[in-house]
Amino acid sequence: MATLSIIKADTGGWVGHSAVHPEQLATAKVRAEEAVSEGLLMDAHVASCGDDLALVMSHRLGPDHPDVHGFAYRVFQETTAVAQRLGLYGAGQDLLSDAFSGNLRGMGPGYAELELEERPSEPVLCFLADKTEPGAWNLPLYKMFADPFNTAGLVIDSKMHAGFVFEVFDLYEEKRIEFRCSEESYDLLMYIGAPARYVIHSVTSRALGITAAATSTQRLSLIAGKYVGKDDPVMIVRAQSGLPAVGEILEPFTLAHTVAGCMRGSHHAPLMPVAADQAHPSRFDGPPRVVALGFQLHEGMLGMPRDLFADPSFDTARSTANTVMDYLRRHGPFEPHRLPLEDLEYTTMHDLEAVLARRWQPIPGAKKAAGV
Ligand code: 13P
Ligand code: 13P
Ligand code: MG
Ligand code: MG
Ligand code: MG
Ligand code: MG
Repeated sequence: MATLSIIKADTGGWVGHSAVHPEQLATAKVRAEEAVSEGLLMDAHVASCGDDLALVMSHRLGPDHPDVHGFAYRVFQETTAVAQRLGLYGAGQDLLSDAFSGNLRGMGPGYAELELEERPSEPVLCFLADKTEPGAWNLPLYKMFADPFNTAGLVIDSKMHAGFVFEVFDLYEEKRIEFRCSEESYDLLMYIGAPARYVIHSVTSRALGITAAATSTQRLSLIAGKYVGKDDPVMIVRAQSGLPAVGEILEPFTLAHTVAGCMRGSHHAPLMPVAADQAHPSRFDGPPRVVALGFQLHEGMLGMPRDLFADPSFDTARSTANTVMDYLRRHGPFEPHRLPLEDLEYTTMHDLEAVLARRWQPIPGAKKAAGV
């Protein structure tokens, strides 16, 4: 069995929150090459999306392994040191703890891991997003694995016709549930249509019994209890031979659907699919970006990635994203551009309420007293 792990963190932005600095990338590449030559990893690829640095790794140690997680944490500590030396913005932003203890759960970095028995040909897509949250994958995953208007294979491929099982996490109550699709797809949608709380963690093929997709499901604001930036999620999706074809996996991103994140983690904005060299959200710290790196995994080796959104057939989606961004921006501080009060990453409301408490007066005739 091989395991694919994408582990990512924002360890400091160049400039502001818009990119990872080339020196941070170079540091991570050196360490990744060492980890491969020392035998910890089979293969590794260093990538970024916006200000988030991602380690894409193949190894034989299984998910949640302390050696792999510990390696990633040490890399992020080193790239944090680079950020400190260069004065990059928010050095070590996503590292919530100085001491590593076993695995990365609750420590800040995000990770998606998928254990697999390599098929004769194993096409795998690694998605990296910046300026949004893990629930951003809900809509595209639903379309890939449950919507026949997106995925022709659900109708015409006998290995896909039995459908897929979606594992959903409730991030508020830390519990999980599985939905069998197609027959439970309306139930599934009731939950995953609320992506701030309910997040698809994995998808499994009913016919093949194999995991087809895995996402990072951490929510930093829930871990830290204060603003530490959006979680900027990652996702692994396997393709072909009874799973959605590469083009069926990419197709949902032509919508440039609206997600939570963007400026100060507190705005709705469209998710723009871009080539890796365009993944630098600058306008209003957005629009949020998604990059898709395709690997043809072979005997545990990742090989060279293909930059799958570097394709003019996504130009219309990018243009739609710009149009939607223009429209939403004109709402300024109003919802639904600004997130509802409970989902804001930043708020002045508590301070304002303290200062203004005495100025609130009862509405004449109201039963409830002011300020209560
Ligand atoms: P496979 O069943 O060989 O994956 O073929 C599907 C396909 O690639 C159609 O685009
Ligand atoms: P990041 O989570 O990408 O650092 O974004 C933080 C932010 O506030 C952007 O405006
Ligand atoms: Mg940042
Ligand atoms: Mg980021
Ligand atoms: Mg972030
Ligand atoms: Mg968050």
